[in-house]
Amino acid sequence: MKCSALPAGSRPQALATHTSMQAPLLLRSLAPSVPKLAQPAGTPLVHSSLPCYRKSRSCSHLASASSTAPGSTTMKPQPLLTNFIQSKEEYDALYARSIADPASFWGDVAEQFHWEKKWDPDHHSFNFDVTKGPINVEWFKGGFTNICYNALDRHVMTGHGNQHCMLFEGNEPGSDGAMTYTQVLDEVCRLANWMKAQGIGKGDCVAIYMPMVMQLPIAMLACARIGAVHSVVFGGFSADALAGRMEDCKARVLLTCNGGMRATKKIELKQIADQAIEMCASRGHTVDSVLVFANHKDGVAGAEAAGTPFTQGRDAWWQPTLAEFPALCDVAWVPAEHPLFLLYTSGSTGKPKGVLHTTGGYMVYAATTTKHAFQLQPGDVFWCTADCGWITGHSYLAYGPLLNRAVSVVFEGVPTHPTPARSWEIIDKYQVKQFYTAPTALRSLMRSGDEWLSSTSRQSLQVLGTVGEPINPEAWHWFHDLVGNGRCPVVDTWWQTETGGHMILPLPRAWPAKPGSATLPFFGVEPVILDDKGVELQGECEGLLMMRRPWPSTLRSVYGDHKRYEENYFGPYPGYYFTGDGARRDKDGYYWITGRVDDVINVSGHRIGTAEVESAIAAHHDCAEAAVAGYEHPVKGQGIYAFVVLKEGVVPNDQLKKEMWTNVRTTIGAFAAPDVIHWAPGLPKTRSGKIMRRVLRKIAGGQENELGDTSTLADPSIVRQLIETRN
Ligand code: WTA
Repeated sequence: MKCSALPAGSRPQALATHTSMQAPLLLRSLAPSVPKLAQPAGTPLVHSSLPCYRKSRSCSHLASASSTAPGSTTMKPQPLLTNFIQSKEEYDALYARSIADPASFWGDVAEQFHWEKKWDPDHHSFNFDVTKGPINVEWFKGGFTNICYNALDRHVMTGHGNQHCMLFEGNEPGSDGAMTYTQVLDEVCRLANWMKAQGIGKGDCVAIYMPMVMQLPIAMLACARIGAVHSVVFGGFSADALAGRMEDCKARVLLTCNGGMRATKKIELKQIADQAIEMCASRGHTVDSVLVFANHKDGVAGAEAAGTPFTQGRDAWWQPTLAEFPALCDVAWVPAEHPLFLLYTSGSTGKPKGVLHTTGGYMVYAATTTKHAFQLQPGDVFWCTADCGWITGHSYLAYGPLLNRAVSVVFEGVPTHPTPARSWEIIDKYQVKQFYTAPTALRSLMRSGDEWLSSTSRQSLQVLGTVGEPINPEAWHWFHDLVGNGRCPVVDTWWQTETGGHMILPLPRAWPAKPGSATLPFFGVEPVILDDKGVELQGECEGLLMMRRPWPSTLRSVYGDHKRYEENYFGPYPGYYFTGDGARRDKDGYYWITGRVDDVINVSGHRIGTAEVESAIAAHHDCAEAAVAGYEHPVKGQGIYAFVVLKEGVVPNDQLKKEMWTNVRTTIGAFAAPDVIHWAPGLPKTRSGKIMRRVLRKIAGGQENELGDTSTLADPSIVRQLIETRN
């Protein structure tokens, strides 16, 4: 293909003739307040006849596509936040601007991305006050873009197609691989074409259930490319949990994998997926198509030989199937508020919530926080150890690094296999510059002993990050002093599935850290601390952590239940987004997260609702009642402590414990299995029948001297009995 046919500054034909102008008529994006995901399944997309990415892939001189985007002006404003923040003074000035005029601030940041059509001047609006009407958040109204285009095509078109995009490190040392941006784009396009052939189009939900292989981010990007909505289900979830999530979002297509190894344990994902599909079918929901990635050194033949179950007509093997589909696929330009993904997370009630994120705001915020939190430059090798089944993997393994043209490390294994030196060896092997992990992993490695660090230099490291739970100062110092040899700032990032990106964090080298504090809010984030009566506290204080205004990647809804979204996050204190966390603000204005104030437990950085575990235990026929509390755990941060009241006449025994434990594993997943099951004579309840959870938390944590007032209990003697029966 000859590049010279295209004048400099023009876009390849496929882009130029694309559907953007028809798109407003074709699409049903999110209405400001009510989510409408689905365009009817199977509605064909409009495609231009001649996809021409090939041209662009070999034409590095082509100007970036944004230069001719319809609606863009010839004189572009200077993009904001292109350079790293050097000082607190610089931060203060920019932060003040982000609060004073968020629309222009984020508009200027968004200039760094490709928009097929630019947003309107008044692109931002919101309502956080339930008493004033429906909750809604809108950013970049009028704009059309595509996050996959920004994460892949943009870099390929500017001549970086041969740069590595992902580096894969398998479970066993020596099993590894790599893909360039061009290779990833090819596979994304093939998969996108396969999905279109299954009738998947804009707004359709696609479920993804895979281990940490490069095909997992590829699957996410392929959905985004065609405007489909991905719902990644963590590979540690059980069949029950997967089924519930597929049913909830009506996923007709599942992207999965035969299985994988985690340390010495074989994970049979396809078997679990099959069980889940059967469960869906028995409840009236059909999964039509299943694409199975053969994660085996001998490919499909090896996976088949290993006995992977396969249903003819419904299942197809990823590798041979995609080889039949073209490696070119047009981009679906979508409105900024078009749904990008659902991610189910635990809340105070039993059923997990499908947190909904949309395209434009999420893209701008995930990319910008990645860049500034980690001082990330294009081409940097960035390693986030999170699984794409959680929000951290979405924002900081897949989208954030790729939007910044970094090289993202995808690790299938665990940090202790085959030895606790594995992480440090990977850092040296790939010359990782930024390493982002969870405090629980650090605590477990710290316990294994410092000697595991000695065979590695970790000289490539420049920034270290933590996420998911408070980091205790001991682990912070170990990370900073030993892992980073005292050279690298530690960035303690506080945020949530719901926030889509970092909210409170120290920008590296811009202001002093305090071990254990996430320090200051990111641009556009306005935290507020309230007392329990809803009064705003000023200066040094401690209370409930709220947000006064939206940031670009605010969750837009709970899928299929906007009311729950409004009640859960905005109902408790009208006018604010309620984080569910407590926080303290010190004299320097630094924030210290004190932990969840609702019924969510944080086990090894995984959010688990007490109600979910309780209902799994209570499903056992011998259980009369169960109540679950978190307690401090030296490695996992929090452990799960279950108080179980057995039915009259049932004699407690170890077999019963095992069965209840198994119930949790099969309903949720092994990671949610209780650490302790306490046969309780009864539960501490108020006269109105409400369980006094504060008392349970204290008993679980061995803090019986801090029980507080128990006089409102219907039967106060139960407290003593519980303490006596604890083992
Ligand atoms: C907790 C994970 C203290 C917090 C990105 C939050 C933290 C919940 C931190 C969200 C941190 C996350 N310090 N606590 N740096 N980061 N948390 O949705 O309780 O899985 O509400 O998102 O984790 O967990 P989620």
